[in-house]
Amino acid sequence: MLAVQEKFNWLPPQALDYISRRLNVRKPRIYHIATFYKVFSLEPRGKHILQLCMGTACHVRGAKLIADELSRRHGIHFGETTDDGLFTLERVNCLGACAIGPILVVDGDYKGNMTTNRANAVIKRLKREATEEDAANA
Ligand code: FES
Repeated sequence: MLAVQEKFNWLPPQALDYISRRLNVRKPRIYHIATFYKVFSLEPRGKHILQLCMGTACHVRGAKLIADELSRRHGIHFGETTDDGLFTLERVNCLGACAIGPILVVDGDYKGNMTTNRANAVIKRLKREATEEDAANA
């Protein structure tokens, strides 16, 4: 199940059906596991998972400004995936690294002392890489 999640960034219903049949485990049990663990998603997610810490320390250090910038400039909103399927933004509360806040986690990579400028640079780089990948695959 984890391999499917990592490959698609979510668990499509067809995949859960397949896993259920393959493991001979009833579907409700599979869905129970898929909904219990936060690592799994039953909704399509973006190619890049962004997690912005909105815990108290990060909030005080400017996380709200970063959230506003992602929303205003890039159309990336908490709990949503962008229309192009490139980004999903999740809100998290305290990652246990308050001293380097605000923190933006990009595909599991903690980026501390985040600023609006640095967040813009990250998003621009990921967009540029996606465009380059598309051109290479065309
Ligand atoms: S509040 Fe963000 S890491 Fe603690």
